[in-house]
Amino acid sequence: MEETIYRGLDGVNVDTSEICFIDGEKGELIYRGYDIGELTEATYEEVVYLLWEGELPTRAQLDAFRATIAEDFAIPDAVVDLMRRLPHDAAPMHALRTAVSALAAFDPDPDGVGLENVRRIGTALLAQVPVLVGTLQRVRTGVDPVAPRADLSIAGNFLYTLTGEEPTEAATRVMDTALVLHAEHGSNASTFAARSTASTLTDVYSAITAGIASLKGPLHGGANTGVMKALEQIGSVENVENYVLETLAKPNGRVMGFGHRVYKVRDPRAFILERVAKQLAEESGEAKWFEMSLEMERVMDREMAKKGREVKPNVDFFSASVYRMLGFPADMYTPIFAVARISGWMAHLFEQYADNRLVRPRMVYEGPRGKTFTPIDERG
Ligand code: CMC
Repeated sequence: MEETIYRGLDGVNVDTSEICFIDGEKGELIYRGYDIGELTEATYEEVVYLLWEGELPTRAQLDAFRATIAEDFAIPDAVVDLMRRLPHDAAPMHALRTAVSALAAFDPDPDGVGLENVRRIGTALLAQVPVLVGTLQRVRTGVDPVAPRADLSIAGNFLYTLTGEEPTEAATRVMDTALVLHAEHGSNASTFAARSTASTLTDVYSAITAGIASLKGPLHGGANTGVMKALEQIGSVENVENYVLETLAKPNGRVMGFGHRVYKVRDPRAFILERVAKQLAEESGEAKWFEMSLEMERVMDREMAKKGREVKPNVDFFSASVYRMLGFPADMYTPIFAVARISGWMAHLFEQYADNRLVRPRMVYEGPRGKTFTPIDERG
């Protein structure tokens, strides 16, 4: 019998969801009915509330949500200690994945998958992961951690625990925009990994750890670090063309920050991040990263057109220069993506646990059959 194979699950609908809609042909991204462009007006906390509850919060609902989050910012000392004891040159995504997994050991009820418990853990992770990432950057550079502040937002606490300084309103606003844009993206690889993991009715920490593990890859969230490493290696606008041509000439050569499984046009988040990067470049006088990015897009457009293809910038492309201009080191970009995506992963876990079905696809077997066992001493 001829079996149909969907490699990479390309085009396969695995379930229904009410969280996110993407039109890859039009370049549309919608969270719970709202266009992503509209949501950049909102704070990250409002958008998380929207993703989790299905509606934007009233002022009173938002205040209550913020108060609950504020109770959860602190991370166990032992987890800070664990991060301190990891080799300081360990990649931050390895450290983050380990730290999030370790949080389960300090939770009084890590395994309960009833919705109330899942919600409690989700809120804790929403608050704690930004603090973990900020703290990680401090401890790996030999600087003492600072305690998170209940009066700051999620974006504010991320910046504060990373720099130890009162975050400016402007930097907090940019972080909020970045968090909103990276919060959710349908059945992407890490969300699918988190949902599949949860579908065995294992715990939230395991599912989120799986999400982080998947996000780390260079074809997914790891691409933002890849973009900045490429820009650092290129060094100047004049060198961009050569870099792109050399990369494309390699077998399976990929220019990081370009292309997408779903979008056939420019990712709508790239338009917004381009505007943010341009503004930061003007304000900071550090225009180099942004200018190199524009040149990279120009050369990619030209080269892809020769192949009759459109391979456009995705969310990771301009976020790299935005984070650079905010002063973050390149290997922290993917952990920052994780800070934002916690909300999307959790929104999907609420759906998954509420109406679970084990994710268990099949493989078409193409290996040998009918072999006969030979005892080890008789094998030649
Ligand atoms: N550089 C060069 N060529 C590319 C790229 C790229 N970044 N992306 C796609 N192409 C070409 C590719 O060579 C292929 O052409 P051909 O069929 O002639 O070999 C064609 O476009 C289709 O590419 P594909 O890899 O088969 O498409 P896919 O749907 O499997 O891949 C992707 C999507 C994201 C894995 C891929 O575009 C890629 O590797 N991009 C670079 C990594 C990246 O930026 N990832 C972030 C994705 S968006 C945010 C996120 O998920 O975190």
